[in-house]
Amino acid sequence: MSAPDIQKVIGRIDKLPTLPHVVTTLTDLIRNPNTSAADIHQVISKDQSLSSRILRLVNSAFYGFSERISSISHAIVILGFNTVKNVALTASVFEMFPKESKEDVPFDRKAFWLHSFACASTTRLIARKVRIATIEDMFIAGLLHDVGKLVLDQFVHDKFVEIVKCVKAKNNLIMDAEAEILEGIDHSRIGGWLAAQWKLPSALVQIIGLHHQPELGEDLMKPIACVHLADILIRSLDIGNGGDKKIPRIHKEAWEVLGLDYHALDEIMESIENELTDVELFIAEG
Ligand SMILES: [Fe+2]
Ligand SMILES: [Fe+2]
Repeated sequence: MSAPDIQKVIGRIDKLPTLPHVVTTLTDLIRNPNTSAADIHQVISKDQSLSSRILRLVNSAFYGFSERISSISHAIVILGFNTVKNVALTASVFEMFPKESKEDVPFDRKAFWLHSFACASTTRLIARKVRIATIEDMFIAGLLHDVGKLVLDQFVHDKFVEIVKCVKAKNNLIMDAEAEILEGIDHSRIGGWLAAQWKLPSALVQIIGLHHQPELGEDLMKPIACVHLADILIRSLDIGNGGDKKIPRIHKEAWEVLGLDYHALDEIMESIENELTDVELFIAEG
């Protein structure tokens, strides 16, 4: 679906959610090999509320560090530049789309975030297993894969109410209900489009945009397949809720490109259960 079609659906949004300037600046800084810890520290420290949200996040059960991280400079030393940037992005998106559900639609935001964080953890587990080097970036991809649903809920709310009602009436996949009501567009397209507007790395844009069509991923099919599989595993374990109760089938190409055997899959399932308590605690605390 081309960008103008997406514009048609969400063109009514007066004010698109914009990423805080500090997150964009951090992304630029990290691309530059000459950036120092002091540069990163200076940028984050200018934003007091982001600084405290980052510290809350890294000290939550979800990250599970044994020692308390007391300052941004401490976080940079312990976590490294890229992870701190990813935590800043996580904190910003979490702030942008709060956990409280809207009253007129049975879409549970808490359950949504639980699905998203569980997918993030699971994507990271799968990525580690299939030896993708950028596992922290894979975590963000898992976390944001369904962000398009939040855009719909928050900014195209009347259509989203129709979509949720359609899912309830027909017990279909939310992506099919979206396509039915939004002239062929679904949350993956909208999420990819938003990530592009936010100037997030192009791999992330592709992963979000194609997480239900990994077979179109070309060079990125493997990372896309990690998110695709994580989404299916988390649905099958009934962890959180992304808006429907169906479990889609894994695409054959995605399964093949990952090259996992059932023993490896078992190990992943076991690790998910270990990480799950932390995810649940994090959502409860958040
Ligand atoms: Fe999705
Ligand atoms: Fe999902």
